[in-house]
Amino acid sequence: MTGRTALTIVLAAGEGTRMRSATPKVLHPVAGQTLLAHVLAAAPKGNGTSLAVVTGPGHRAVAEEAKRLRPDAAICVQGERMGTAHAVLAAREAIARGADDLLIAFGDTPLISAATFERLRAPLEKGAALAVLGFRAADPTGYGRLLVEDNRLVAIREQADASPAERAITLCNAGVMAFDGRKALSIIEKIGNANSKREYYLTDAVAIVRDLGLEAVVIETGEDEVRGINNRVQLAEAEQVMQARLRKAALEAGVTMIAPETVYLAADTTFGKDVTIEPFVVIGPGVSIADGAVIHSFCHIVQSSIGKNALVGPFARMRPGTSLGEGAKIGNFVETKGSTLEAGVKVNHLSYVGDAHVGANANIGAGTITCNYDGFGKNKTEIGAGAFIGTNCSLVAPVKIGKGAYIGSGSVITRDVPDDAMAVERSPQTNREGGAKRYREIKTRGKPPKSSD
Ligand code: UD1
Ligand code: CA
Repeated sequence: MTGRTALTIVLAAGEGTRMRSATPKVLHPVAGQTLLAHVLAAAPKGNGTSLAVVTGPGHRAVAEEAKRLRPDAAICVQGERMGTAHAVLAAREAIARGADDLLIAFGDTPLISAATFERLRAPLEKGAALAVLGFRAADPTGYGRLLVEDNRLVAIREQADASPAERAITLCNAGVMAFDGRKALSIIEKIGNANSKREYYLTDAVAIVRDLGLEAVVIETGEDEVRGINNRVQLAEAEQVMQARLRKAALEAGVTMIAPETVYLAADTTFGKDVTIEPFVVIGPGVSIADGAVIHSFCHIVQSSIGKNALVGPFARMRPGTSLGEGAKIGNFVETKGSTLEAGVKVNHLSYVGDAHVGANANIGAGTITCNYDGFGKNKTEIGAGAFIGTNCSLVAPVKIGKGAYIGSGSVITRDVPDDAMAVERSPQTNREGGAKRYREIKTRGKPPKSSD
């Protein structure tokens, strides 16, 4: 793009009644991110850009989400919903600053791409006063129709005000527009509410531009990109479109997926080279997967990083804050949370590793639990590099297992174990060695244990 400045106004004051939800519409998620986040990700950013989000009164959560994503965003509250033109004027101050390009987008249209915003800006550079994003609707009902005469856009007619002949038009208004930023305010201020709904329609800007002898143009795009979301059926449809896009992008980037249609990705998932994802895997927000890692079937992974050549699952659950080092392995029915597992660590079966740091090449046997919660607070478990934890151990945090230490199976470890020590701590019921008394033994051990496969 040339050095033109851009202000983007995102309209998000709608109640979203048809979502039947306590959550404002634009905060519902698609591919692990809010609808608003998707729109803001596509909007022009960086030098020379600014952003305003129009919210309804009492929509503090929408304002917070906008600020989280774009700390520079201006939040403009539309006191009363009186139409899309009225909503745009809630950002009057920002418009008056006169960016070269003024872009208007809807917060409930999450599939819009950055490239489309740029395509809409291009005609402005060539002197058009207004560019409208249009699409051919399979079913145009409900959309504003684009009235074109001699290849020129002359007006937009809303469904409620359209004649039967106009209703037959399938070229529709997507809702995204780009104005010449210096002319925009005077154009939008001329919009009245003489229509069947008594609303101020932004779409009337087209006829005004024409009356002023200025040029309005249509830029066309596919319907999938401009699906507006009004209910949860449309939310699910948008999810489908987005997932198809994300899977295709992942495949093109070199990820192997045997059955991509069964893999759910988040918009921010990142992949290295030669990653393999087996069928039926769900990846939530904040996940990175490095080169050569394999995610076996039926895993659920959120806010975690997976190192090079690491192996996950089948049937593993990685909860937020898990970091898996190079070549590390977590196997079936293993749950992790808030834990770092360094390179080469193995947790092959049936374990819970929470709030733990596990040093390189440690081996955690089947059924091991880090007892991180004592009913009052969360406590940390530290397991040193090369340690060997036998099967069915409970590590009662806070506790530290030294480097190279060896923990006998069935132990309930309540006290720290020094480096290279061998520890067995069993309750009377499971104790073979100590008769009726609780058994605890720590001794220096000879040969270091071998890691299992
Ligand atoms: C609008 C367009 C229509 C287009 C369709 C595409 C107008 C008048 N109509 O119709 O031509 O085909 O989108 O989906 O622009 N909003 C506010 N404040 C308001 C009114 C709306 O913030 O007072 C916001 C809504 O939250 C929503 C967006 O503007 O994000 C569009 O409003 P909506 O009522 O959904 O317009 P449509 O009837 O769908
Ligand atoms: Ca709508």
